[in-house]
Amino acid sequence: MNKKVLLSAIAAGALVLGLSACAPESVTSGDGADKGLIGVAMPTQESERWIKDGDAVKEGLEAEGYTVDLQYAQDDIPKQIEQIDAMITKGAKVLIIAAKDGTALTDQLQQAADAGIKVIAYDRLINESPNVDYYATFDNYGVGVLQANSLLAGLGVTDIDGKAVDGVTGPFNIELFAGSPDDNNTHFFFNGAMDTLQPFIDSGVLVVKSGQVTQDVVATQDWKLENAQKRMEDLLTTFYSGGDKVDGVLSPYDGLSRGIISALTDVGYAVGPDFPIITGQDAELDSVKAIVAGEQYATIFKDTRELAAATVQMTLAILAGDTPETNDSETYDNGVKVVPTNQLTPYIVRKDDIDKLLVQSGYYTADQVAG
Ligand code: GAL
Repeated sequence: MNKKVLLSAIAAGALVLGLSACAPESVTSGDGADKGLIGVAMPTQESERWIKDGDAVKEGLEAEGYTVDLQYAQDDIPKQIEQIDAMITKGAKVLIIAAKDGTALTDQLQQAADAGIKVIAYDRLINESPNVDYYATFDNYGVGVLQANSLLAGLGVTDIDGKAVDGVTGPFNIELFAGSPDDNNTHFFFNGAMDTLQPFIDSGVLVVKSGQVTQDVVATQDWKLENAQKRMEDLLTTFYSGGDKVDGVLSPYDGLSRGIISALTDVGYAVGPDFPIITGQDAELDSVKAIVAGEQYATIFKDTRELAAATVQMTLAILAGDTPETNDSETYDNGVKVVPTNQLTPYIVRKDDIDKLLVQSGYYTADQVAG
């Protein structure tokens, strides 16, 4: 290396060091002219989907010249509050928030509004605040309907669109799980599913042996796999040790499904044609593999790339002083206002749908899903 090159290499190194020394933690800059800071607050890195969401939103905004402060709260409410406070202090222009707790951010959102910062609720609605400007999500009630439809279709009670198959009377033993009670999506998923399943419970085709059918009883705190596994183990011990068999489980999220599957296989349920029908959500890679392996019947695919792209578009429109595109102005009442929403479409993924929906769309490679 000649002297000139060496000197400029040292200077570049010093610049990089200098920049990173004064850059706030976790901030990554885009490559073009810096148009300003956008704060992105995600709930947890424990679930793969939020990592994909965070990465996609960050990349999309950086490609437009923004700097992104992407933070994960590890499902800790005070931590998420602290992270959002810091984004406001750093002068973020827009906040994109997937809340850990849908009702814990009222003060932060007020501070944001006072500072002229717009707020987009990402996937999960933030409740009890007038300062949620927009909401980007999927059809959450529809997700619940699709979960119920996949359970019914797996049992052979209906086709995949929910049309009853003649002459199938069961009875099939099912158990129900709901998501975390602090997540606004939980009741949309559960209501969509229960509205679809209830007629079959009423007619006796489906039997919930435990009798546990209300959201408060079947909820899973923090969406945690361990909590679902423990509840499934308890259900098996209490209601199924006399020889009755579980035929299906409504699970609202792939992480919970994996816990439920472990509880079942631990007591001897063997993968094969009689394995219970288990639903899910998020098309997490481990669960897609479980579908390939015949342990899980279906998941619900919500393309995080689409949600991220829609959110980036919303952000750009806000910053340009335009009104972002929305397609729902009725569904999402947060207790103070109905939040204008862009709702995207979820899809059922069974084994035969993996190639078309997940591989051909580039969400996963064929090698990844094959295990
Ligand atoms: C929900 C989200 C689901 C799932 C779940 C657990 O809010 O809509 O897709 O990710 O959280 O993380």
